[in-house]
Amino acid sequence: MRTLANNVYEVGVQDWDRRLFDELIPLPDGTSYNAYLVKGSQKTALLDTVDPAKTQILVAHLVRIGVDHLDYIISHHAEQDHSGSIPDMLLMYPDAKVVTNPKCKSMLIDHLHLEDDRFLEVEDGQTLSLGDKTLRFIYTPWVHWPETMSTWLAEDNILFSCDFFGSHQATGSLYVEDESKVLEAAKRYYGEIMMPFRSSIRGNLKKLEGLDIKMIAPSHGPVYNRPSLILEAYQDWVDEAKVANKVIVPYVSMHESTRKMVEYLVDVLMDRGVGVQQVNLTTVDLGELVIELVDAATVILGCPTVLIGAHPSAVYCAALMNALRPKTKHIGIIGSYGWGSKMVEQLTGLISNVKAEMFEPVLCKGLPKEETYSAIDQLADNILAKHKDLGIV
Ligand code: FEO
Repeated sequence: MRTLANNVYEVGVQDWDRRLFDELIPLPDGTSYNAYLVKGSQKTALLDTVDPAKTQILVAHLVRIGVDHLDYIISHHAEQDHSGSIPDMLLMYPDAKVVTNPKCKSMLIDHLHLEDDRFLEVEDGQTLSLGDKTLRFIYTPWVHWPETMSTWLAEDNILFSCDFFGSHQATGSLYVEDESKVLEAAKRYYGEIMMPFRSSIRGNLKKLEGLDIKMIAPSHGPVYNRPSLILEAYQDWVDEAKVANKVIVPYVSMHESTRKMVEYLVDVLMDRGVGVQQVNLTTVDLGELVIELVDAATVILGCPTVLIGAHPSAVYCAALMNALRPKTKHIGIIGSYGWGSKMVEQLTGLISNVKAEMFEPVLCKGLPKEETYSAIDQLADNILAKHKDLGIV
């Protein structure tokens, strides 16, 4: 039994073997589906459930603690990794009500076909007494879907935040032990699902000001018993003005010409004192790329032309950037072609959601020539100048 405070338990599941989420997101360290049990003097609440594939482990944990009656199931988020066991919980605890906001209720009915009369709707800021413990619901939309909310347990100063502040990790540690490792996993997670909604997250962070938070208990990864670690990181990640002196160069090369251009650019950027990260799109774990996109000031995409358009690996990268909308300030495209190319027009169209200034593209026919390298030198000068303007060099 894992105890956070008197009569507050973590009862979720570590999924050590899962390697992909949404058939899209790599999980190098697995993940967890955290669920919490709060036993008040009069009522008992379960905060979230687990992925449906792991329901039997949740059931075993509840049986081991001796939970023979449940009054409330708090649903912070309708996505199935947290809601998927609710139907089984409602069968196991026939008196339990699902407590959530109207938007989440509607989504739970759509996704799980729950009956309308099993719900108790709550408003933003509403409280629910369990006797000697009180739950206060705080709407925190868009972390990760529009219906997401958090719960504040006032008597124990614990914020249950669901996906908000989470990290995909399976771990035997209830609390954060290796802070840098958890921060990297949390940054990856933020980048993968929350980055496009950072203006909403700024509002959510503001709503939490004034709470004397002693612990943040998310639905993935370990519990933060030093909440400032993740609160300060999120403040940086959602701040549009905070970008790093870093150029990400995601690239793919078919016959070495684009690679030569990329390697030259990386070299001359290093000579100028600009941070740079070369990322081969054919082998990268996309999560690693997303971590870099969270705060990189500049992205230069290296792409050869296949037939007449962009290489599909670069198309995928551009589509991903367009979906995640990083706060990147400057973008450029470099690459080689054989006889003609519409690659720049295609890629530019694909990243229209990213509000960044475009550098003049550098293209060459076949192998790069002296004038190609001169153009890359100029590009590096322009990047340095822009980073100086941003005050990050
Ligand atoms: Fe962990 Fe958006 O579900």
